Amino acid sequence: MIIGWVPVGAVRGTDDRNRLDDHRKAWADAHDVRPRRHRCETRGMRLGERIVSDGFQLPAGWTGRLGGLLMASGNAATERHVVDLVPDRGTQDVLVLGPGPGIGVHRLLSRGASVVAVDPSPVMLAATLRRCRRLCERGATLTLRTGTATSHGLGPGTVGTAISVNNVMIWPDRMAGLVSVRTALCPGGELWVSAHEKWLAPGLTADCREAGFDDVEQWRWEPPGRGASTAVQLRARVET
Ligand SMILES: C[S@@+](CC[C@H](N)C(=O)[O-])C[C@H]1O[C@@H](n2cnc3c(N)ncnc32)[C@H](O)[C@@H]1O
Repeated sequence: MIIGWVPVGAVRGTDDRNRLDDHRKAWADAHDVRPRRHRCETRGMRLGERIVSDGFQLPAGWTGRLGGLLMASGNAATERHVVDLVPDRGTQDVLVLGPGPGIGVHRLLSRGASVVAVDPSPVMLAATLRRCRRLCERGATLTLRTGTATSHGLGPGTVGTAISVNNVMIWPDRMAGLVSVRTALCPGGELWVSAHEKWLAPGLTADCREAGFDDVEQWRWEPPGRGASTAVQLRARVET
């Protein structure tokens, strides 16, 4: 069963694309996504920066679809590894921040978890839905929302687990994101993070403590294969 879904219409021709750009820009203005990641504002960016932005940071258009395919292979081991570390909390919902193409969401649904997946990219929400549709048709519970770490729309104490793989380093305001996620976690709830070490700003453990988490533990993990780089991973708990 799919509880919530933000429809993403087919885009044909320049008019549709311009309308979509206006919509994305208005949406970004109202949320906490870096506004430069929009066609009108990415025009001045170098090609490399634009590919990273549209392909991986806020996936959009064909570059975003291609980025989703690359993430689905290059980051799959990390996504599955993190999900396998997370304890099964029965009926408590799991919040997945920035699921990208949905590898971790699929793993969680396969083991019976009820998942709320939040991503600012409609392209990635659509990819997650495609990947998980079969499981949803067989009864898995997935809620998909357009949103971010600071605008996930969840009330205080409503989820048991929150997971962020490869996106904490692109949250525009890391502290605000951590505080917001901590508020959504119930007493005893846990945040699990994995991020590419080479792109992660220092101080994540200290930021988690400042955001109100207790019992924060951080370690490094080497994904198998040659594609992915060393990950920094972290588990932070909310006091019971
Ligand atoms: C590099 S991709 C990682 C996707 C997936 N977790 C993986 O490891 O393959 C980053 C994802 O985070 C999303 N994202 C960007 N800004 C975000 C924010 N402020 N809060 C939550 N997710 C965000 C992007 O849309 C994208 O889907």
